Amino acid sequence: MNATHEASRVSTPLRTLQPAWVRITHWLNALAVILMMLSGWRIYDASPVFKGFMIPPGITLGGWLGGALQWHFAAMWLLFFNGLFYLAMNIVTGRIKGKFFPLWPRAILHDLGEALKGHLSHADPSKYNAVQKFAYLFVMVDIAVLVLSGLAIWKSVQFPLLRELMGGYDFARVVHFSAMSLLAAFVVVHLVMVSLVPRSLLTMIRGR
Ligand code: HEM
Repeated sequence: MNATHEASRVSTPLRTLQPAWVRITHWLNALAVILMMLSGWRIYDASPVFKGFMIPPGITLGGWLGGALQWHFAAMWLLFFNGLFYLAMNIVTGRIKGKFFPLWPRAILHDLGEALKGHLSHADPSKYNAVQKFAYLFVMVDIAVLVLSGLAIWKSVQFPLLRELMGGYDFARVVHFSAMSLLAAFVVVHLVMVSLVPRSLLTMIRGR
C-alpha cells in the first residue's frame, strides 16, 4: 500500500471517534440523570426547599413520595457506578487529557464568540472545541457535587464532615437543588447543540 493510499485510509470517516465504553456509559448516564431528576422533583414537592415554589406534579416521576424515593435510590446506584467507571476509564486510558485538555479561559471565550457568530468549525469531529470541553468538564464536576450533596442529605448522621462541608443539612439541600438546576440547564443547552450538529448524535450512537 503506498503512502497516499495509507493516508486516505487513516483519514477515512470509518475510524472510531467515540469508543464503545464512552457511548454505553453516556447513554446509561443520560438515563440515570433523567430518572433521578424527574423523581427528585417529586421528592422536592413533598417538602419544598423554597416555600411557594413547586414543580408541576405532571412532569415528575414516582406518583407519590414513597414511589419517587424508590426511583431515586434505584437510579442513584446506576449513576454512581456508571459515573465511576466512566471517570476511571477516562483517566486510565489517558482520554481525559487528550480530549478535554488543555483548556484555557481565553480559548473558551474565543470559541464561545465564534459559536455565537455561527463561525465555529466542526471539520474535525474527533476534537471538542473549548466550549464543549468546558461544558463536559463542568457537568462532570456538577454531577459529583450532586452525588456528594445527596449523600450528605441521605446519610447526614453517618457523614458529619461531609454534612458540615455542605454547610449543614438544610444548606446541603440548597446545594443539591442548585446543582440539579445547573444540570437541567446543561441538558437543555446540550440538546440544542446536538440538534445543531446532528452528525455528533450518530457518532455517539454508532461510534463514527
Ligand atoms: C441527560 C443527561 C446528559 C448528560 C449529563 C450528558 C453528558 C454528556 C457528556 C459529559 C458528553 C461528553 C462525553 C465524552 O466525550 O466523554 C456528552 C456528549 C454527547 N451527548 Fe450527552 N449528555 C446527556 C444527555 C444526552 C442526550 C439526551 C443526548 C441526545 C439526544 C445526548 C447526546 C450527546 C452527543 C451527541 C454527544 C457528543 C457530542 C459532541 O460531539 O459534542 N446527550 N454528553
